[in-house]
This record gives sequence, structure tokens and C-alpha cells, in this order.
Amino acid sequence: MCGIVGYIGKRDSAPLLLEGLQRLEYRGYDSAGLAIHSSGTGKNAGLRTAKTKGRVRDLQERIPKRFTGTVGIAHTRWATHGAPNDLNAHPHVDAAEKVAVVHNGIIDNAAELRAKLTAEGVELASETDTEVVSHLIGLAQGETLEARVQEALRSVEGTYGIAVLHEEFPDRIVVARNGSPVVLGIGEHEMFVASDVAALVSHTRQIVTLDDGEMATITAGDYRTYTTEGSRTSTSPETVEWAAESYDMGGHDTYMHKEIAEQADAVDRVLRGRIDDRFATVHLGGLNLDPREARTMRRVKILGCGSAYHAGMIGAQLIEELARIPADAEPASEFRYRNPVVDPDTLYIAVSQSGETYDTLAAVQELKRKGARVLGVVNVVGSAIARAADGGLYVHAGPEVCVVSTKCFTNTAVAFALLALHLGRIRDLSVADGRRIIEGLRKLPGQIDEVLGAEPDIEKLAGEYASARSMMFVGRVRGYPVAREASLKLKEVSYIHAEAYPASELKHGPLALIEPAVPTVAILPDDDLLEKNRATLEEIKARSGSILAIAHQNQEKADDTLLVPQNEPELDPILMGIPLQLLAYHTALKLGRDIDKPRNLAKSVTVE
Ligand code: G6P
Repeated sequence: MCGIVGYIGKRDSAPLLLEGLQRLEYRGYDSAGLAIHSSGTGKNAGLRTAKTKGRVRDLQERIPKRFTGTVGIAHTRWATHGAPNDLNAHPHVDAAEKVAVVHNGIIDNAAELRAKLTAEGVELASETDTEVVSHLIGLAQGETLEARVQEALRSVEGTYGIAVLHEEFPDRIVVARNGSPVVLGIGEHEMFVASDVAALVSHTRQIVTLDDGEMATITAGDYRTYTTEGSRTSTSPETVEWAAESYDMGGHDTYMHKEIAEQADAVDRVLRGRIDDRFATVHLGGLNLDPREARTMRRVKILGCGSAYHAGMIGAQLIEELARIPADAEPASEFRYRNPVVDPDTLYIAVSQSGETYDTLAAVQELKRKGARVLGVVNVVGSAIARAADGGLYVHAGPEVCVVSTKCFTNTAVAFALLALHLGRIRDLSVADGRRIIEGLRKLPGQIDEVLGAEPDIEKLAGEYASARSMMFVGRVRGYPVAREASLKLKEVSYIHAEAYPASELKHGPLALIEPAVPTVAILPDDDLLEKNRATLEEIKARSGSILAIAHQNQEKADDTLLVPQNEPELDPILMGIPLQLLAYHTALKLGRDIDKPRNLAKSVTVE
């Protein structure tokens, strides 16, 4: 959700900024822009901006000649206030065109501030919330740029990661963070700033992550951090785990394909160093949950959005089955708006790939405020949700760039299996069952590769389903979250309408939709519900619906069956989702969709 990047050093900034924007484009891709302190003379001197509706490549074509300078900021946008057009694209400048601001987040009191500025005679050029910040900085009276930004931010309510250039202070970029990520990249006689390390790792792996309420000034040779009130803060650079290659496509045509293909390695990583064969359990170093608490908790509530919510549904099932603790998952967004009863004996778990989804973060903050214990199951190390939680576990999927989640979904489900096993072995799961699950976990990477080996068959099937008007996904109990996620995946990337239902619910209404043009994908693990699931297939067949079964054995009633290797019943859902990621991918490919950047979506939704 909006990417920001900034550079200050000796090199020409525009090419570096464009490269950074390309790496951040998954955060938003409806318009892009940049501002530099120009090294030109005459009318080319001073602060210059270039911006456009569209992708970063469109911006690249729009960069004017002799647009050079060693200091600059840039932005790629996912529209919230105002349509995606040239005027609403960032950076936004003040009336005197001396200040340029790029912003990620939402200014809640923008309408009020716009009205106030208009009353003072300021002409607003865009419909955005961000523009008010540029004017407020332009009008501020402080002597330094830092003081002016602080003064402006005092009137602003909402979330922001901002980077500011000012014509009168060409030796610096000032940044501030409240709720939206800002990281600094420390180079040799050059500094970077970005909303995500993805934009920095090809230049430096030394980074500083700002906290909420923190600001920073970067100059070519130095940086300092301080609060919005002006007191110095102490931060030391950390080394990022992932090298630049992890953010590249590595020979694949899309990030989605690359990320699907990486899943065996990713699962290997989430397991690495955690299994304890002696006690048939796992070590989860960052959980911060002592065994007494693990024994006495009475419920588990899991919160997340989109694919993270679906991974949480699998997690709830695993926790109930292995640890016998009542558990359920709920969309984080719904939870925080319904004034939930916060129970001291419930363990709350926030799930998020990015660790910055606003709805999930806000739910965590609300829970913490009410004294609840919150764990995070998060991919991005050091992200806002990881930091806000009392403890948790990282899912170690590695950087996920495609807007739709694949490997991170799978790894999150595996991380939940680890957590469920850990809780189970503290409670009443037997050593024998613990060993059984550990064996199953160890089998997963090999079995994932087996599933991926069926890609040519899946591609063929995608050819048949690409013409579907709508698709139905059904599963029972363990299979239902798999159906939900598969249906989400298909609609996100192919734009084919899809619905997911518990197989048992089909006859209570959605059966009315079944007809030859609405095929059904049925999740049919070989467990004690198989016979019941077969009855559902009969119901569909009787209404002339075609069926694709995802199963452990061939299904007579299905028109096609994709066979998936069998694991332990509790872990089967993890494998059964993978062929459906490939089905969504190949269907979207056949329909010529923009797979890594589906229309209207963004990877990290940092607004409400
Ligand atoms: C957005 C993305 C989804 C993602 C969800 C949660 O809606 O488009 O693909 O699952 O956010 O993201 P998170 O980073 O919290 O897992």
C-alpha cells in the first residue's frame, strides 16, 4: 500500500529511485512520481518533480531531460483519497513549490485541514490527504526543516510514513513514521530511505527501522533519529537477513510462479532448528509463553485478513485437534469493530505476512490496551505487528513479492502446526502422536515437490476452467479453509467469480447455482468424512455440475481428480491447497491477467 523511497549521496538519484520503486511496486501501482533537488541551472534549478498515472515504467518514460540531482524522493501509489490520476500522484508540493512530500498511510483529519487551508487562501491542487502535509510544512515557521515538519505533524491525525524534501535544505531528507513503515538504509557516503527493505537490499543490508512517533534526518554521510517532540533516540543498524537475489524473479516469468515453486525450501526453513525429537515437540524461542500459561488458557482466538485469516482458520483447526483447546479464527477487521469481549483466559494470535496490515495491527493494539496476551505469527521480521505482540513465531517464508500470497500462506499453516504441536505436548497430546506429527512435518517438503510436479496436468485443467463463469469451492471441516483460500486465490488473480462453502452447507442454498457453466472444486481428503463428501459430489452431479476433485485417491464421481500425496490427516490441508495455487496461476495466465499485480489490489493494506 504505497511505496516510498528516497536517496541522498553522490550518485544521480532518479535512476536509483526508479529502481527502488520497481521493487516496491507490489505495494501499489496506480500512479508513481519522484522529486529531486536538481543540479541543473536556470529553470532546471531547485526542486523538480515528475509524476504520472500508471506504472513505474510509465513514469520512466515521462522523466524530463536533464532531470539530474543527487537527492530525491519517490512514490508508487495505491489510491485512497482521490482517483489515480496525474494530479493525485505523489510527490505533493506546497504553494511555493519548495516542499515535496511522499506519504504512505491516511491522514484522518485531512478534510478538516483542507478546509482550514482553503479558508487561509491556499489553493489545493489535488484531492489527496497528503497534499495538506506539504502545505503545512510550507507554512511552518521553524528555522530548520526538522522543526517545520514537527510543527506540521502536530496538526495531523492519522497514519503516515513520510519523506520530505525542501528547496532551502538541499543537504537532507527528513522522514517521519506513525503507523506506516519507514526504514533507513546505510550506505558508503550515501543513505537510502524506503517503506520496505526490498527497495534497499541491492545497495545495502545495513538498515535502521524507525518506530512509531520517530523521525530521522538523513544526509549523504550520516543519519540521526529523534521523536516528533525533538528528543534524540538511539538506534543502531541491523543487518537484513535476505540478499538482493531473494527479491528477484530468479528465472520465472512472475513472482507468483517463483513463490509457488519455492515452497518446499520455505517449509524446510520454518521447520529448521525447531524440532525436538527427544520430547516429540518443537522449540519456539520467541513465544514468551510459559508452560503454566499454555496449560491454563481456555481459548485461542486467531485474527488476520485475507490469506492470513484463512491460514489462521487452518491454525485454529490444528490447535483444537492437537492441543484440544477451543480455537477459532476471525477477520481482524470485523473483530476490532464489534467491541469484542476480551477474555483474560484467551490467547490471541495475530497473523500477517507483512506484519503491517492496519486492521490486524489495530486489533492487536486494541487487545493490548485491554490487557490481553497477544502472539504474532508473522513473516516480516521486526514489522509493526511482530513488535506490538508479546511474543510469537516467524514463518520464515522469505520475501513474498506477488500481491497474492502463496508460499507465505503455506508456511503460516506450517507455523501453526508447530504451535499446535507445542501446545499439544504441554497439554495432553501423547508422545506417539507428537512423533506422528513430526514425521508428517518432515515429509512436507518432499511431498510439496511431488505436488508441484503435477504442474503440466494442472495447466491443462486450467485451460478448461478459464472459460467458467463462476466456480464453487467446497470442503468439509479440515477441507473448508483450503476451499476458502483456493477460491480467494482464483478470484484475486483470474477475476473469475468464485465462492467457497462448507460442503455440508451446499444443500442449504448454494446448490441453486450449480449448472454446467459453474464447475465445483471439491477438497476430498481421505479422512473419516470422505463418505459424506462423496455424497456431496452426488448432489452436484445430479444437477449436471462438473467436478474437479483434489483428493488422495481417484474419485469416480469427479470429472477430473488431482491426486495429492497423503500425510497425517491434520496436516493434509497444507498440501491440498498447493495444486489450487497453480490452478489459479495458470487460469490467470490463460486469461492474460497481470498476475503479480491484480487490478485494484495491494499487498500490504496499511489503511482501514
Ligand atoms: C491484502 C492482500 C492479501 C493479504 C492480506 C493480508 O488484502 O491483498 O493477499 O492476504 O492483505 O496481508 P498480511 O500482510 O497481513 O498477511
